[in-house]
Amino acid sequence: MPTMNRIGLLTSGGDSPGMNPCIRAVIHEAEQQGVEVVAFRRGFAGLLDNDCFAMTSKDVSGIIQKGGTVLLTARCEDFKYEEGQKEGIANLIKNKCDGLIVIGGDGSFKGAQAISDRGVEVIGVPATIDNDIYGTDMALGTDTSMNNIIDVIDKIKDTASSHERTFIIETMGRGSGYLALMSGIATGAEAVLIPEVKYDLDKIAQRIKLRYSQGKISNILIVAEGTATGYHIGRQLSKIANIVSKITVLGHLQRGGSPSGFDRVLGSRLGSAAVLKLLEGNSNCMVGLVKGKATITQFETVFSHKRELGPTLIKLAEVLGK
Ligand code: ADP
Ligand code: F6P
Repeated sequence: MPTMNRIGLLTSGGDSPGMNPCIRAVIHEAEQQGVEVVAFRRGFAGLLDNDCFAMTSKDVSGIIQKGGTVLLTARCEDFKYEEGQKEGIANLIKNKCDGLIVIGGDGSFKGAQAISDRGVEVIGVPATIDNDIYGTDMALGTDTSMNNIIDVIDKIKDTASSHERTFIIETMGRGSGYLALMSGIATGAEAVLIPEVKYDLDKIAQRIKLRYSQGKISNILIVAEGTATGYHIGRQLSKIANIVSKITVLGHLQRGGSPSGFDRVLGSRLGSAAVLKLLEGNSNCMVGLVKGKATITQFETVFSHKRELGPTLIKLAEVLGK
């Protein structure tokens, strides 16, 4: 194994439940391997400001059950430019970091790649509730977020059925329908509208009317924010078919909360693997979960592929929603 005495660590982009278990695992595994960790606060913003501290196992006790990230996260426009990236690398060198672990989404991995391209070894850990990163079956936070959504929809269904109403639930997912689709399957939603599939509101309206005529008294429609707003869909249903609906925008309720068991284990596995893979000489890449195993995918491959939802799950949601 190449020698690394000290590595940097940061969380970047949107926070996601599972980041803390991952931070904890990085610290414990690094200590096990005799490597020091310099943690930067607020992602690349902290790297530019040299806002960092030596993080040890004392700093990670009691964080495994916490949502968000104890290292704080931020979005940093300056890091998209050469000048910012050079400053960040200068701070890594100043702190004698031989490598860096970036926990974040695909935007953060672009920053990680820029550092790697300039000669510092970097590994990413995929963390985003959207689960839209190629090279991992699940990103950190997705499972917790899906469970948050399911909890709320189950509650809304009580009112929907008691009042014989149609509800439209808007989930997060800027460019990905993963959360909407999976929560739709898990809650028995009547329709799921996702950015990956063109929707036909006339067809959905007909289905709602048919269901009412068959005595089915409530309807749940889930809309991923990247498709349209829940309010837009509500207005359209009213306009084209006189269907009255109630709208709930779940917003940041979805992203918070104690990480699920799955996200705690995933964060722990990928955090540990990130340290070991970095020490083995892997760089310019991400470590994700593929077929149950911690697996390296080069950033180039991550960026040149789209994580597909696949026709089977899309069809399943349709069949079960009838
Ligand atoms: P996420 O990592 O959750 O996808 P963002 O897309 O907001 O979140 O990216 C997080 C941060 O990563 C940005 O604020 C910026 O600092 C950095 N970043 C994003 N895109 C690039 C890029 N093309 N080059 C360098 N850094 C980038
Ligand atoms: O990338 C995850 C995500 O939750 C998206 O689904 C959403 O559009 C976005 O982040 C919102 O992030 P923020 O509120 O931090 O700008």
